[in-house]
Amino acid sequence: MATTTIDNDEVIVSCENIHKTYLLGLEGVPALRGIALDVYHGELLVVYGTSGGGKSTLLNILGTIDVPTKGNLALFDHRVTDRSPDQMLAAMRSKKLGFVFQSFNLLSTMTSIENVSLPMIVLGERSRDEIRERAIALLKEVGLGHRLDHYPSMLSGGEQQRVTIARALANDPQMLLLDEPTGDLDSKNTDLIMKILLRLNIERRITMVMVTHDVYMKQYAHRVLYLRDGKVHRIETIDKDVRQRALDDLINSSDEQLHQAAWGIAQSTKMSIKKSPEEYATASAQRPLSSLDGTDEDMDSIVQLLFANTRRSSTV
Ligand SMILES: Nc1ncnc2c1ncn2[C@@H]1O[C@H](COP(=O)(O)OP(=O)(O)OP(=O)(O)O)[C@@H](O)[C@H]1O
Ligand SMILES: [Mg+2]
Repeated sequence: MATTTIDNDEVIVSCENIHKTYLLGLEGVPALRGIALDVYHGELLVVYGTSGGGKSTLLNILGTIDVPTKGNLALFDHRVTDRSPDQMLAAMRSKKLGFVFQSFNLLSTMTSIENVSLPMIVLGERSRDEIRERAIALLKEVGLGHRLDHYPSMLSGGEQQRVTIARALANDPQMLLLDEPTGDLDSKNTDLIMKILLRLNIERRITMVMVTHDVYMKQYAHRVLYLRDGKVHRIETIDKDVRQRALDDLINSSDEQLHQAAWGIAQSTKMSIKKSPEEYATASAQRPLSSLDGTDEDMDSIVQLLFANTRRSSTV
């Protein structure tokens, strides 16, 4: 297995004194209060914190879904401010970032292939055949080669989350932002999702910032960020050997089916997967699946997120 350490110090995200205050009526609600954080290329950064501590807010800001009220944010060498052109932010989201949230935010009227194809269609850089071929390869990569034409309602929670991951990978992002990606899943599916994510982190060096409440995830991280009351309480570096042992245990887990889904199929299809980009979180991403009825509105919200103004919240 490849190296598990971050073998470079290339900073791809830099936060300096980031504040985010929401305006609620006449009141300002401080969600982030002076965050200083660098994220390194290839790292898996796990974020823990109390409920309401600002974790999702931080992910939204890192994903340019929201902008800081104050402070400096640089993403992939671009300074992001409330004056950054929407088109620039949308292009960054579309090409460099992938989003995976707790509820599966798939479009219910679309099959797995169609859901995974959507970000590529929106980006418009591939032919119809290439998009289909790539969507199939990505679904195979997450062990869903046998669920290509299924609608979300025909998939289990774990399968839906894997479609979401495949979709997040569609345009070959450099960084995945994950908000409790295993929050709704049982332990078997959590293991499977973690295997898939860790493989992407290790083999494809996709940087990940993952919010979770699962204390078990810590061992897989390079570093752990503890957020409390909108501030960085602590950053902990995970010992290389501890991480390696955890990875070995997970990868050698005795469940052959999980192993195949996470690693076996991926190995056999790896060659067919071109380096690609993509994704979108969605304004509807945090809505439960049941509230999505597959209307054009859902599609609109995704397209909006990729290409239009997404500063959805009032700020002071
Ligand atoms: N759009 C908004 N308008 C007003 N206040 C908000 C908004 N979004 C978040 N907040 C507030 O900001 C704070 C941080 O919220 P955030 O969602 O980031 O917390 P979190 O750490 O993700 O919590 P959880 O673990 O429960 O998901 C909370 O007090 C929340 O009520
Ligand atoms: Mg949250």
